[in-house]
Amino acid sequence: MLFVHISCVILILCVSLSETYINVITKRDEDFVSFSTKAKYVPTWSSLDSRLLPSWYDEAKFGIFIHWGVFSVPSFSSEWFWSYWKGGLKIVNDFMKQRYPPNFTYQDFARDFTAEFFNASDWAELFQASGAKYIVLTSKHHEGYTMWPSKYSYSWNSMDVGPQKDLVGELAEAIHKTNIKFGLYHSLFEWYNPLYIADKSNNFTTDKFVTQKVIPELHELIETYKPDIIWSDGEAEATDSYWKSKEFLAWLYNESPVRDTVVVNDRWGINIACHHGGFYTCTDRFNPGVLLPHKWENCMTIDKKSWGYRRNAVLSDYYTLAGLVKELIITVSCGGNLLMNVGPTKDGIITPIYEERLRGMGAWLTVNGEAIYNTKPWTVQNDTLTGSVWYTLSKNQKQLYASILEWPDDNILLLGSLKLSKSFQICLLGYSSIIPWKQSDNNLEISLPANAHRGEPAWVLRIKKNID
Ligand SMILES: *[C@@H]1O[C@H](CO)[C@@H](O)[C@H](O)[C@H]1NC(C)=O
Ligand SMILES: *[C@@H]1O[C@H](CO)[C@@H](O)[C@H](O)[C@H]1NC(C)=O
Ligand SMILES: *[C@@H]1O[C@H](CO)[C@@H](O)[C@H](O)[C@H]1NC(C)=O
Ligand SMILES: *[C@@H]1O[C@H](CO)[C@@H](O)[C@H](O)[C@H]1NC(C)=O
Repeated sequence: MLFVHISCVILILCVSLSETYINVITKRDEDFVSFSTKAKYVPTWSSLDSRLLPSWYDEAKFGIFIHWGVFSVPSFSSEWFWSYWKGGLKIVNDFMKQRYPPNFTYQDFARDFTAEFFNASDWAELFQASGAKYIVLTSKHHEGYTMWPSKYSYSWNSMDVGPQKDLVGELAEAIHKTNIKFGLYHSLFEWYNPLYIADKSNNFTTDKFVTQKVIPELHELIETYKPDIIWSDGEAEATDSYWKSKEFLAWLYNESPVRDTVVVNDRWGINIACHHGGFYTCTDRFNPGVLLPHKWENCMTIDKKSWGYRRNAVLSDYYTLAGLVKELIITVSCGGNLLMNVGPTKDGIITPIYEERLRGMGAWLTVNGEAIYNTKPWTVQNDTLTGSVWYTLSKNQKQLYASILEWPDDNILLLGSLKLSKSFQICLLGYSSIIPWKQSDNNLEISLPANAHRGEPAWVLRIKKNID
C-alpha cells in the first residue's frame, strides 16, 4: 500500500498516549474509595497523586499569571526587590540610597500601593479578549503581604495598608462573571516573617509558622474565594512534612468547597516539584520541547527579566507576539499549558505593551484556537523534516493541526511526518480556499498561498479526511 491512512495512525497512537497521560487510579485506591467515599484521599503522595486532574485544566491550555503586590511600588529589578535589597545586591542598594532616607523600610512602600485605577471588570474584559481560559493572581508573594483582608496578616494586607480594597475579592467577583477560571498563587514561605525565621533557625523542628499562619490563611483563602487553582510556590527551603502539604491537599480534595474542580501544581516541599501534586511546573519557564507523560505547565513572563512590573523595562525586554505564540504552540504540542505573566503597576494598570500582547494573542487564537484549545498531543510533536512545524490533534481525533512557525521562502512546505492518501484535505485556518498538496515517498509537499503570508505570528494547517 502506497498510502497509510492517517486516521488509523492517529487512532492507534492516541490510545497509547491517553494511557500514559491520565493518572490511572490504582487498585488500592479503588478499594479505599469503595469503603469510604468521604475520605477519598489520604495524606500520602500515592493517594493524592491518584486523583485525576479535573478535565477543564488540560482543555484550557492558556492562562494569564498576574504578579502584583507591594513589589509593584518600587517596580525596579524584580518582585524579589526586598530580598535583593536586604541581601545587599548593589543595583538595588544604590536605588534605595539615591532615593530614600536611611530609615525607610520596605513596609513604607505599601502606602504607595494605591491601586487607584484598578478596575476588575476591565481586567476581566482584557483577559477574555486574550483568549486565556484561566488566570492566576499572586494572593501573597514572598513578601507576605496579602492581597485580601486576611485575619492572619494583621496590618500587612491590602485592606489595612495601601489600596484599602479586597483585591482578590474584587477580581474573583469580576472573573466569576466570565467563563474564565479563577486561580490563586500562594507563597508558602515569607522572607522576613518572624515565625518563619524562628522555625528555620530551629532547623524546621518547630512549625509555628505553618500552623499559625500558612494553613489558616490557605483555608481562609479557599473558603472565601473558592479558587479553581492553588498555585503553590516558595516551598523550596523546607520539606512537604514541615509545610503539612499532604494533609492540606487531602483536605482540599476531600472536604473543601472546591474539591471537585480545584487543580494544584507541584511546589509543595523540597524535591516534590516535578514529582508529585497536580500539574508539574518543575522550574520557572519550563518548556522541555518534548512530550512529557504527566500534565505540565510552562509559566513564563512577557517581560523576560521579571514577574513584577519594571518601570525601566525597554521594548526589547518584552517578548514579541510571534515569540509568545511560538511558546504557546510548542508548549501545547508537548502536552503542556502556557501560563503567561503580566505585571500590573502599583496603580492597578496593565500597561498598553502588555495589553497589546494579550489582545494579539486573542486575535491569533480567534482564527487558530481550534489547534490549541481542547486538543491533545499527536505521536510526533515537531515535524521530522521541518522542525519548526508543530502538531496537535483534535479531541475526536478527526483533525490534525500543523502549526507553522516559519513561512517557507518559496511558499512550499515540506513535511516528513505525514503520509496522506488522496482522500485527505488540507486548509489554512483563516483562509478560504483548499490548499494543493502532493504526497511522495519522502515527503508531503504543500503549496501555501503566497498571499496568506502577511506577517502573522504563526499559521495553522488543518488536515482531515474528506467525508463523501
Ligand atoms: C525618617 O527620617 C526623616 C528625616 O531624615 C524623618 O523626617 C522621618 O520622620 C523619619 N521617618 C520615620 C518613619 O522614622
Ligand atoms: C470599571 O470600568 C467600567 C467600564 O470599563 C465601568 O463601567 C465601571 O463603572 C468601572 N468600575 C469602577 C469601580 O470604576
Ligand atoms: C537539620 O535537619 C536535617 C534533616 O532533619 C539534618 O540532616 C541536619 O543535620 C540538621 N542540621 C542541624 C544544624 O541541626
Ligand atoms: C524539534 O524541536 C526541538 C526543540 O525545539 C529541536 O531540538 C529539534 O531539532 C526539532 N526537530 C527537528 C526535526 O527539527
